[in-house]
Amino acid sequence: MRIISVRDAAGLSRMAADIVASLVSERPDAVLGLPTGDTPLGLYSELAKRERAGAAGFSRVMAFAVDEFYGVLQGAPGTNAAYFAARVTLGVKELHQFRSDAPDPDAECRRFAALLLSHGPLDLVILGIGANGHIAFNEPGSPFDSRTRPVKLSAVTRRAHSRAFGGIALVPRTGLTIGVADILEARRALLLASGRRKAQVLARALRGPITTDVPASALQLHPDLTVVADRAAAAMLDDPEG
Ligand code: GLP
Repeated sequence: MRIISVRDAAGLSRMAADIVASLVSERPDAVLGLPTGDTPLGLYSELAKRERAGAAGFSRVMAFAVDEFYGVLQGAPGTNAAYFAARVTLGVKELHQFRSDAPDPDAECRRFAALLLSHGPLDLVILGIGANGHIAFNEPGSPFDSRTRPVKLSAVTRRAHSRAFGGIALVPRTGLTIGVADILEARRALLLASGRRKAQVLARALRGPITTDVPASALQLHPDLTVVADRAAAAMLDDPEG
């Protein structure tokens, strides 16, 4: 594992953009897994800036959103579809997303898994980390051999999204997510963590025991993991560069 500790969120965005842009310049038809959340916002705008300047091109890139809420209108405020529409302006060839209003969540996951199988494995999966150690929507307890599936969202995760949905009662109880095994199969994994509130969970994920209690700890098993963390998030790693 390679841990890159940068000064702040802006440094994180630039460093992550360097990593993504260099992969895409080597492999213009790369298949990417993309997360939502506050952490990658700067990465997406940095990549868009480079694209506008002609310094990076994504027109042959195939992208997969790594998760979505279920049981809510497609594109409703708070959904990942709304996030991608508003915040990710990259001109990728295709962006595949789960449908949050699909009639049957299992069938929707089968559809998504089949697409992932036909284009995958992912060349690069980009991930944030939830306060409880989740990656994509793989909540604590997710088996490491789990695949694309519906999941019950934890109270912590639902609370974290409460504002975006206009109140905790409106946050869906179910998420759709690629599995831990899909993440471990990606050729490369890039984990981003920013801010003090991620310090403890990042240390547990990277330095603690590998356990389904902390789904991100599965990343210790990934053969090509890069972690980009700002100083605040890296604060509890005994040896940030180790
Ligand atoms: C959500 C997403 C995850 C993301 C996490 C962290 O739950 N489903 O994919 O990694 O939030 O978000 P943030 O970057 O806002 O802390």
